[in-house]
Amino acid sequence: MTTDRTTNGEVPPTARESGSPTADVKVSPVAGHIGAEISGVDLTEPLNDTVVATIRAAVLRWKVVFFRDQRLDHAAHLAFARRFGDPVVLRRRGGASPPDFPEVETTADRLELGGRYGMEHTEWLERRRHSLLRGWHCDHGARIDPPAATVLRAETVPPYGGDTTWSNLAAAYAGLSAPVREFVDGLRAEHRLGVGYQSRPGDDAYLRHLLDHQVASVHPLVRVHPETGERVLFVNGYYLEQIVDVSRAESRLLLELLLEQATRPEYTVRFRWEPGSVAFWDNRATIHLAPSDNAHLGHPRVMHRVMLTGDIPAGVDGKPSQPVTGTAPGRW
Ligand SMILES: [Fe+2]
Repeated sequence: MTTDRTTNGEVPPTARESGSPTADVKVSPVAGHIGAEISGVDLTEPLNDTVVATIRAAVLRWKVVFFRDQRLDHAAHLAFARRFGDPVVLRRRGGASPPDFPEVETTADRLELGGRYGMEHTEWLERRRHSLLRGWHCDHGARIDPPAATVLRAETVPPYGGDTTWSNLAAAYAGLSAPVREFVDGLRAEHRLGVGYQSRPGDDAYLRHLLDHQVASVHPLVRVHPETGERVLFVNGYYLEQIVDVSRAESRLLLELLLEQATRPEYTVRFRWEPGSVAFWDNRATIHLAPSDNAHLGHPRVMHRVMLTGDIPAGVDGKPSQPVTGTAPGRW
C-alpha cells in the first residue's frame, strides 16, 4: 500500500497526470493518526482505476476518508461502493430504507427504535448504556465476519450536533507499551449483541428481541489486518463482553485499560457532516462513536449506509475467530 502514496499521505504522482480525470484528486490528512479529506473527485462519475487505487490507499493509510458536496443517489452510492468490494445485501432493514436497494440502509428511524420495543428513546438508550464508552463500535462487530468497510452518506443533517468520531485501532495498538502488546497479542474475547443491557421489569420486548436474534463470536483481541498486515487492537465498548480464559474481574479491568487506550483523543478524528458528505472507513481498523448529542434537538438526521463484506478475523497466531451463536460467514 505504501507504494501508492508519499510518506505524508499525498496522492501519488501517477494520479496527477495532467489532462487525466484524476489530475485534481487530493488527499489531505486532517488529524495526526487518522482521517483524510479527499477532494477533486466527483463520486457520481465512473472512477478510473488510478483514482480507485488512490482512494483505497488513503482508506488503508488514514482509516477513514471524507468527501464533501457529493450528489449521490442510492444507485451512485452503491456503484461507488462496488469499486472497493462486495456490498452486503441486507435482509432486515429499517422502515425508511429504500425498497429497491437491499444494500442500502437508511438510519433515519434510529430515534424510533426504542418505540418498537415499547420504550421512549431515552429509556432505551439508558438501559443499553452500561458504560460511557458504549457508543464506540465497529459495524456488526459481533458477527464472525464483520464488514470490511462502510460507506456512509449524509442526506439531511442537523444544523449543529450529530458529528461522528472515529478512532484508529492500529495506532492504539502501536501506542501500547511493548510488554502489554505482547500480553494482549495472545488473548481472545467474546463479542455479543446486546451485552450489558439492563432489562425492564415484567415483559421486555427488547430483551425478547435480543434473545431471538443472538449474535456472538470469539475474536482475537489483536487482529492482523488482512490487507496492511498491521496489528489492530480489536476492542469496542458496544459488543465486547468478556476476555476469555481470564476471570471476570480480570476481564473487566483489562477491558477498561484497553478501551481507554482505544479511545484516546490523539487516535481520533471528528467529522462534521453536511448534506452530501460521504465518509468511507475501514471497519477492520477503526471504531466509531455514534453521536448522542442530537436526539434532544429534534432535528432530522437522514444517513444512508452501504457496507462491504469482510472476512473472518485472524489473530497474531493466525487462528481465526470462532462463531458462538447466530452468525455464519456471508449470511445476513
Ligand atoms: Fe456504526
